[in-house]
Amino acid sequence: MNSPLVMRRARAISGLFFLISGMVLLSAGSLSAASPTAVSGSGGAVASAAPTATEAGLKILRDGGNAVDAAVATALALAVVHPQAGNLGGGGFAVVRLDGVVHTLDFRETGPAEARHDMFLDRNGNPVRNASRIGPLAAGVPGSPKGLHELHSRHGKLSWQKVVAPAIRLAEDGFRVTRRLERSISSSRELLERFPETAEVWLPDSKPPVAGSIMRLPALAATLRAYSERGPSAITEGPAAHAIEAISRKYGGVLRAADLAAYRPVWRDPIQFRFLEWEVASMPLPSSGGVILGQICDLMVRLKWEEKPRSGADRTHLLAETLRRAYADRYLLGDPASTRAKEKDLLVKTRMEKWKREISLTRATSSSEVRSSGPALAHESTETTHLSVLDGNGNAVALTTTINGSFGCGLVVPGLGFLLNNEMDDFAAAPGKPNMFGLIQGEANAVAPGRRMLSSMTPTVAWRGSETLVLGAPGGSRIPTSTAQVLLNLVLDSDELQAAVNRPRIHHQWLPDQIFAEVDALSPETVDALQKRGHRVKIGGLFGRVNAVRLTDDGRFEAAADPRGPGHAGVTNPGPE
Ligand code: GLY
Repeated sequence: MNSPLVMRRARAISGLFFLISGMVLLSAGSLSAASPTAVSGSGGAVASAAPTATEAGLKILRDGGNAVDAAVATALALAVVHPQAGNLGGGGFAVVRLDGVVHTLDFRETGPAEARHDMFLDRNGNPVRNASRIGPLAAGVPGSPKGLHELHSRHGKLSWQKVVAPAIRLAEDGFRVTRRLERSISSSRELLERFPETAEVWLPDSKPPVAGSIMRLPALAATLRAYSERGPSAITEGPAAHAIEAISRKYGGVLRAADLAAYRPVWRDPIQFRFLEWEVASMPLPSSGGVILGQICDLMVRLKWEEKPRSGADRTHLLAETLRRAYADRYLLGDPASTRAKEKDLLVKTRMEKWKREISLTRATSSSEVRSSGPALAHESTETTHLSVLDGNGNAVALTTTINGSFGCGLVVPGLGFLLNNEMDDFAAAPGKPNMFGLIQGEANAVAPGRRMLSSMTPTVAWRGSETLVLGAPGGSRIPTSTAQVLLNLVLDSDELQAAVNRPRIHHQWLPDQIFAEVDALSPETVDALQKRGHRVKIGGLFGRVNAVRLTDDGRFEAAADPRGPGHAGVTNPGPE
């Protein structure tokens, strides 16, 4: 978590948070002033990282689109107004529940055909600093152009042109720069300045655009128009693909036009499990998110987490002990084609029961006892963006998309106007060896051509009768833990939606062997009690930005954006039923 890029971002998030959606200003990581009430009404709901993107989704719902149409329109609007993570040059995952049937689309990036196991290592076998983070060598083959189109063409209702139109309008007519975008660009200025092709777009007059000014993106508008008219081939074939290859070659990348042509999104079976009376569907490999979510929900029921007091050490202790084990399992995971461990074996009841027996209520396990070989979780960027949608028929889409780091690899493709990802950094650069952070990952996630890099993204849909929840988050390795804690708050504590999203969170990821806690999460007495049980505790930061929507059992739609982030929640028809 300590690249210069991420450090700057971490500093940025510890400042003031401007919250739209009738929320309030939060200071220095405290959530105590956050609004407890979700937006509610009828007709459908959208929660995303930007008001203009949420509005794009709501407009599609009002125009008769279904949840898939609205999710794709929202994602494409984010590709314009939220360049830190919204994208055409990245990838993502979608969990869709349509007419009661769950579909899961993997449009994760892949290693280009010329990618090699040791491509980010020096001659001594050590990772080369920033090689997998900055510039086009860091870029995986983008999955979004084909993925979003596939999602729509399989399950959308409105025409493709209608769904792309709001994003074209935002890019063509312009959108107002928010304070958050101005700050993000300022804090990533060094990265964006490296490439004149990027500076020309995002540093007009050689400086970040000022909050309140109107930003127009003509090249991106033209790309979106072509995408609207011709579909993904407008980006993945012909002159556009050659423009991507040319800029990749110019800066030493291995991304080629042939990679874009060969890329395929994949429909997969979800990770689906029972959580008390709820059915939960989440993302399978190449995401670790669904497995970790399933393990947490299972163990929390077995350990009767909800019977422990909300404050005090017991709940945090039990969650941390479970997370320690879940994240140790993550070492085994990667692209499903390269992962020997089977997800169902990691979730099997006998194994969960064994974990329950191993967990003592009075003593922390040492992480070295959990897996003796000592491998650990690699650095993962906390950028990414999640959107949740419900339409008037209760159809649901949870969609998480990413270019990995804020502004991806920092390179805008000239003429096309979008940033390329730096998702190659989610591979293990040196399996079995410590990386530049002293961390080790498994061979299942080694760099390889055509392979999908392991992710933590956890788009999730849960339902009980007609009641439906849709949620997910950005936040790197904290995505599964943020998503899980909101689900625990809702299902085990019966929290209101916004309260569940707002509640302070903790995190543990096996290594480093410590509990991370948001500022408001643990009282000094609780920290003391946890330390007495053998935990190390680190306080600070904000974890995940969960955007969630819910259809209640009395037919009301609710939407909640996370006060930690720039989220915006809306319903199609606000107000009482
Ligand atoms: N790049 C963040 C993730 O895929 O989890």
